[in-house]
Amino acid sequence: MKTKMEKRDIETREDVIRLVNTFYDKVRENTVLGYIFDDVAKVDWSHHLPKMYSFWSSILLGEKSYDGNPMQIHVKLGKETTMSDVEFSEWIRVFSENVDAQFEGEKAEEAKIRGANIARLMLFNIERS
Ligand code: HEM
Repeated sequence: MKTKMEKRDIETREDVIRLVNTFYDKVRENTVLGYIFDDVAKVDWSHHLPKMYSFWSSILLGEKSYDGNPMQIHVKLGKETTMSDVEFSEWIRVFSENVDAQFEGEKAEEAKIRGANIARLMLFNIERS
């Protein structure tokens, strides 16, 4: 008999690192989102990924290690390339799918809710800027 693999919740910084790495692997392959990172912003991944580990560890694990202003950065990016409902809806879809593929629990639900809320707030701020 096969035993079903139980999914764990997001509990440690290692979990957050896995969540972030797998998310951006998918983002870079994504036709709606990938070019914004690699062609428009020409993101230095060795710099960006550790920032994202801190961002999500601060939100989900209370780490207080992220110190930045993502709203301002995305509003600026919205002036350089199209950042509309299409891009943000895709971001939310890929992010949620990636959480669900690996984790299950309170923090996993929180990650999806917080991600979607921030995405909608970013879109709102971009649209009125
Ligand atoms: C269409 C959706 C999105 C796109 C295309 C996008 C793109 C980017 C890019 C290109 C950067 C790097 C900027 C740079 O270093 O030059 C960035 C940074 C960042 N993004 Fe996004 N992003 C999106 C949505 C989000 C959402 C929904 C969140 C939060 C839930 C988020 C959180 C962040 C954070 C924390 C940073 C680092 C900011 C810093 O330097 O402190 N992004 N994003």
